Amino acid sequence: REAKRYLGVADDLKLSVNAAEVLKKRYLLRDERGDVVETPGEMFGRVADHISKAESKYGGDVESYRSLFLQMMRNLEFLPNSPTLMNSRLELGQLSACFVLPVTDSLPGIFDALKNMALIHQSGGGTGFSFSRLRPKDDVVRATGGVASGPVSFMRIFDTATDVIKQGGRRRGANMGILRVDHPDIMEFIEAKERPGFLENFNLSVAATDEFMEKSRGEGEIDLINPRTGLAGGRLKAAELLGLIATSAWRGGDPGIIFIDRINAAHPLPGEIEATNPCGEQPLLPYESCNLGSINLSRLVRKGELDWDRLAELVSLAVRFLDDVIDMNRFPLPQIEEATLSRRKIGLGVMGFADMLIQMNISYASPQAVALAEKLMGFISEHARAQSARLGEERGSFPLFDSSRLRGWSAMRNATVTTIAPTGTISIIAGTSSGIEPLFALAFVRRVLEGARLLEVSPLFEKMAMERGIYTPDLKVELAWRGSVQEIAGLPQDLKELFRTALDISAQQHVRIQAAFQKYTDNAVSKTVNLPAEATVSDVLQVYRLAYDLGCKGVTVFRYGSRSQVLYLGNGE
Ligand code: CDP
Repeated sequence: REAKRYLGVADDLKLSVNAAEVLKKRYLLRDERGDVVETPGEMFGRVADHISKAESKYGGDVESYRSLFLQMMRNLEFLPNSPTLMNSRLELGQLSACFVLPVTDSLPGIFDALKNMALIHQSGGGTGFSFSRLRPKDDVVRATGGVASGPVSFMRIFDTATDVIKQGGRRRGANMGILRVDHPDIMEFIEAKERPGFLENFNLSVAATDEFMEKSRGEGEIDLINPRTGLAGGRLKAAELLGLIATSAWRGGDPGIIFIDRINAAHPLPGEIEATNPCGEQPLLPYESCNLGSINLSRLVRKGELDWDRLAELVSLAVRFLDDVIDMNRFPLPQIEEATLSRRKIGLGVMGFADMLIQMNISYASPQAVALAEKLMGFISEHARAQSARLGEERGSFPLFDSSRLRGWSAMRNATVTTIAPTGTISIIAGTSSGIEPLFALAFVRRVLEGARLLEVSPLFEKMAMERGIYTPDLKVELAWRGSVQEIAGLPQDLKELFRTALDISAQQHVRIQAAFQKYTDNAVSKTVNLPAEATVSDVLQVYRLAYDLGCKGVTVFRYGSRSQVLYLGNGE
């Protein structure tokens, strides 16, 4: 009913006020005057119409898949990544969130990447780059007899261009910048975002090799290698370097780390992966793109139990949907079309994990949560692969199948099938907790129209507290003030356990949950390891070590109160 009132158009979807607001601002179609001309329900209809058209290519039943796709989106059981919602049936028609572009060590190479980035941002996608092939600062430039500017200087151009483009006004362009740990400019890179206002449209990640991670356990040193000559120039103690990374991350959240050798070891195709998409969950080869989609686990709990049958149905349907997206996609560059169509990577994941746990009466901080995460993702992965294999038989395997490590399967439609996305905006649309993150706060004050303020309390907490007859106006105010229930006197202990927020959960537990999902995810897992304000650099180092030892593909920490995250404000901004 809220949605109806807010939008001024009839609609039978029960969306939250926030969802309606986000949709209206950025997703729903507008006419030339800028007036919104579709309802959220019509938006899902537009997406289902468009994506199901792909079925006709393979003799599938377009009408029945249209209605199955529509149903799972209208039920908020599954949502594709934002560009699919925004751009389906539009002339632009670019449907993917994730791209990686190569940056080669020449001026034309660098500016090609810049131009391609502009085209991708304009279409609603995010871009990742490795700057590791660029010669270091002050290295020779033969053409001019001058000296090189180095990777960090060039990144500033990408950052400025991103500011100017603004993704067609609908969301801010997002980038990932990656540098190998053995690049001579690694120190400058690690500290690059400590300067205020610098590289605000970038997340940064250091590509850490296995050699580096192993040597950082002791006194070992690594060689810094000039990518232009392949020659070593200088050595650094691995442990000291890791300490610098941890210090910068402690100060402001950047850089993150990706375990690049592990990413390549798990990748089933020839070619070297150098970079990921902006939020780190999707490693890709140069010029590849990938479209993501997430199942809303919080919609699948019936009487405290997960509906595994419906989950299996949704997984199969979602894999089919995401494979259809590839066929309906309009790619921004011919190289991207070629790289994507020959591998057909998709990334199915989940959102609402924390809300699901609460409904199942399981604390995020418990060993049961870790065990369920593994079981759940194992189940999703198994069903997703089985569906991709079936599609492979019906529609043909992805063209590079025979040169991939998947050739042990009789057929496979997609080189990868699973990814855990942050779901920053689609989780707001679905009205659930984002990705696999715990609840961030149980109450907060939201500024609404005309500067009014609205006190919002987690609906799940509100419901349970009411059921127990302990929900008073005083409690509501105290909750808003504290954000967490842990210090509130007189609340039952089991409720406190169940409603632990990100900062009431140990860093180790954050990592264990990430690792549990990673175990059964082809691509990577988006997760922030939250640390309290008083955490130390050595706490950060322990998180790195645990993430590496438990098999994660990367790790991002965020210490409460350090500089606010720039790419991720949750509303796609
Ligand atoms: O919820 P939504 O589908 O909008 O996106 P997400 O799951 O939060 O982010 C998935 C990916 O979308 C990110 O890793 C980026 O590659 C891309 N993205 C972007 O390009 N620009 C943004 N403002 C947000 C996300």
